[in-house]
Amino acid sequence: MGVEFACIFKRRLMSTIRVGIIGTGSRGITCIGRQIAEQSVELDIVITAFCNRTESRMQIALDDVNEAASKAGNAPFSPTFYSDPNDLINDDNVDLIVITSPTAAHAEATIPALKSGKKVYLDKPIAHTLEDSIAIRETEASESNPMIMGFTRRYEEPWIKLHELVESGVIGDLKMMLIRAVLPYSFYFQTWHRTRAVSGGALNDKGSHYTDVFNWFAGGRAEKVNAFGGRNVFIEEDDAPEFCATCDRDCAYRTETAMPDTQDQMKGAVDRSYETETDPLKRKDNCVYKSGADIFDHATIHYQYNNGVVASIFYSVYGPQAEDEETLEIVGTKGRVILTRLRGEIDLITDYGEKRHEVIHCKSDNFESSHFGADRKLVQEIAAYARGGGSPVNGWDGMEATRMILGAMKSIDDGGETVHFSDLPDASDS
Ligand SMILES: NC(=O)c1ccc[n+]([C@@H]2O[C@H](COP(=O)([O-])OP(=O)(O)OC[C@H]3O[C@@H](n4cnc5c(N)ncnc54)[C@H](O)[C@@H]3O)[C@@H](O)[C@H]2O)c1
Repeated sequence: MGVEFACIFKRRLMSTIRVGIIGTGSRGITCIGRQIAEQSVELDIVITAFCNRTESRMQIALDDVNEAASKAGNAPFSPTFYSDPNDLINDDNVDLIVITSPTAAHAEATIPALKSGKKVYLDKPIAHTLEDSIAIRETEASESNPMIMGFTRRYEEPWIKLHELVESGVIGDLKMMLIRAVLPYSFYFQTWHRTRAVSGGALNDKGSHYTDVFNWFAGGRAEKVNAFGGRNVFIEEDDAPEFCATCDRDCAYRTETAMPDTQDQMKGAVDRSYETETDPLKRKDNCVYKSGADIFDHATIHYQYNNGVVASIFYSVYGPQAEDEETLEIVGTKGRVILTRLRGEIDLITDYGEKRHEVIHCKSDNFESSHFGADRKLVQEIAAYARGGGSPVNGWDGMEATRMILGAMKSIDDGGETVHFSDLPDASDS
């Protein structure tokens, strides 16, 4: 077959993927949208529709993705703007629906999207409540329409490498896991994440990544959990200011929006996008000490799996910035591994300790891009899935990850009581 004919044949088989994005904020713009723009020619993928409740945030998103497209030498997009997710879902020019709205708005878009029969990408966490999580999963199952979810670590080079290593048996049988996450993430108290009604809790936002990792590695299902935590730094103050922008305190948790010197030069699309929000809860600079937050700033959580594996999360959102702020440690019967996310490194000990400190450097070539290169790979996976490939992580995985976090939050609310997952609602096909 001649080269020319082969190219024509290839084009016929692979039609352009037309993407509609619901929720054009930080994740929709800086991660997914930009990566689609940068790879639009090689993946044959374009953005044809945006949906946002706040119209100005669509124009800011469009300017940003088109700037990324232009830098990559790719053509700009001219998507249709919608305010109602159903209008985007029903648009004949959309094949793949990307949902990156705030967590409490996931179900209202995801359920009709799954029912439309189109391909669906949903960002994690699946939902803010167990009720919504189960409803999404059950729709996915009843419609036989598996979606793909955005558990970033599943697309990050060192985590993939670690999974291969553990599966190969070099540390023997996996027995224990620990994710240590001492994160400089005070922004959870400064944005919409600060209430469970919108986010399901910051622990759901970040911790669902971790429970998904545990499930990916464990090869079983979590049976019970106990946990302690709450708020011990971001404690309400009666005289707390409303926003950083209107506060002159010397405060370590000030957002950059309050720094006049840097305002014009440094602000990216995300800050400009947030600034157009009029609803105070959706601003980016709510004071961390202001009343109204009902999320946790720290937790220690312990899971027991039905195959004997145990797994723990050690978590805070007031940690200092540090290269070892997020690590995964796994102990097996013959060895142990520690993955340090920000270094892109795996420290491996095998053979009962005879082989010490073998450090595997496994940064991807795109480590400097968002989520250490994971979003670039994620968009490649989304394109493969949209063309009929399988989903590496679907709604059942998403439901299970959030169910495990909501179980831990219940334990914390109950003063550390053990929660048995068999006592919590579950999807009918579990
Ligand atoms: N996979 C990851 O690593 C990762 C990283 C960041 C965020 N996320 C997830 O992505 C989602 C969005 O987070 P974000 O940081 O981009 O938030 P954001 O506030 O920056 O963006 C959300 C956007 O959705 C819009 N919006 C609000 N209500 C809407 C509705 N009902 N329908 C449509 N649009 C609506 C907002 O105006 C905003 O533009 C969350 O579920 C979050 O947990 C995932």
